Amino acid sequence: MGRTRRHFLQAASLAGLSAVVGRSAAQERPSLPVPPLQDLRPGTPVTLTARVGETEFFPGKPSPTAGYNRHLLGPTLRVRSGDEVTLNVRNELPEMTTVHWHGLLIPAAVDGGPHNEIAAGQTWKAELPVQQGASTCWYHPHPHGRTGLQVYGGLAGMLIVTDREEQALGLPSRYGVDDLPLILQDRVFDREQHLVYPRGHMALMHGALGSVMLVNGVREPRAAVPAGLVRLRLLNGANARVYDLAFEDGRTFHWIGTEGGLLREPVALQRIALAPGQRAELLVDFGDARPAVLVNRTTAGRQPLLHFAPAGERRPHALPARLAQWQSPPREAATQRRRLTLTMGNGGAMDGMSGLPGMQGMPMPHGFDGRPFDMARIDQRVKLGAVEIWEVSALPGMMMDQAHPFHMHGVHFEVIRRDGRAPDALDAGRRDTVLVDAPVELLVHFTQPGPTVPFMYHCHILEHEDAGMMGQFTVS
Ligand code: C2O
Ligand code: CU
Ligand code: CU
Repeated sequence: MGRTRRHFLQAASLAGLSAVVGRSAAQERPSLPVPPLQDLRPGTPVTLTARVGETEFFPGKPSPTAGYNRHLLGPTLRVRSGDEVTLNVRNELPEMTTVHWHGLLIPAAVDGGPHNEIAAGQTWKAELPVQQGASTCWYHPHPHGRTGLQVYGGLAGMLIVTDREEQALGLPSRYGVDDLPLILQDRVFDREQHLVYPRGHMALMHGALGSVMLVNGVREPRAAVPAGLVRLRLLNGANARVYDLAFEDGRTFHWIGTEGGLLREPVALQRIALAPGQRAELLVDFGDARPAVLVNRTTAGRQPLLHFAPAGERRPHALPARLAQWQSPPREAATQRRRLTLTMGNGGAMDGMSGLPGMQGMPMPHGFDGRPFDMARIDQRVKLGAVEIWEVSALPGMMMDQAHPFHMHGVHFEVIRRDGRAPDALDAGRRDTVLVDAPVELLVHFTQPGPTVPFMYHCHILEHEDAGMMGQFTVS
């Protein structure tokens, strides 16, 4: 698990730049805000309005923020597998936006990528056919060049898919009670405790890393939970930070789900890494009724993220031995092998930082294979229904070794090799985002059409993505 260390070194150096902010012991912890649940049903369109607002991250210190239907973040949308639901996305922001359904297996025409522009003042009607099984997904803006800023400002929400197979397992599923959506983000505040979006060379190279940890938009909240088994749906909604999550008391928890849905069986763990864009579902046993703290482990120590206060009657529970039954596409079915290399630019002006031989000193954008994203260029063409192997690696930079969370739209994939070997248990499951801190091989099944509007693949460090570390593929 040494994978995430480089990020934390970078984070530590950045932390000194922003005001040191903590909560004094005397201050009451706020309770964990739970975004309102919005169940989507066929035939009943729901409106999602992107708007600006204000949030007091520190009492009496309002910062400009943005959210869906609210001043920060958005409602949790819940859909049922097999349904087709309709969302009217209204853009009341002062600029263009798009809304991407990250993790949904839907056609590219409604995927909400950079081509699905919603001009300021306009409404986009998105009809989403939900075909996949139970999973924890999310939604966020995706306008090319502005994704980082819009997400950072607060535009993000969870999207939960449920199905019969999951419901029959008896997993904790009382929303906001024993089934908690947890959006993990980090932010920078200035000395006046106002939210600032870090820009400049550091942010371009490492992404926007903050020293203040938020869960559902609040610093170090407290969650009242039943003294029993609780399901956590973790979303790394940070622009750039890789979390290394554990409980302060080192307790074992069970990992039950990845981006693409439930695992085949629970995996007992003491820590789990989560890269930007990734989700993990965990079952945590609070049956001993002892308070617990979810922490982010860094080289500098442990940052508390969320405090759990179990209460009430202790309830016996059973952990299901088996979760979801799903088939992996056979490797032999792969008809194509593609190689993609994530390449770091140099911020435009820095000498000697380009990783590409012969390019030192030249202004270099972020990209794939040295080429920045171009909305008008199709980078890969895939056959609908194909199974392929995508080999993704990162070119080492000259001054830094950056791990990139590689995300693909419109597919789930499995990691079949990491660093030339079979991957370990932490790469299990169906994914849509994988941390490329070593070369990986992904087995990808292309089930969704995108003949004209393309799908995206990109680094989910949003500042890398905005600066060109993105490509696009058609599926037909
Ligand atoms: Cu979550 Cu293309 O993004
Ligand atoms: Cu996505
Ligand atoms: Cu990156």
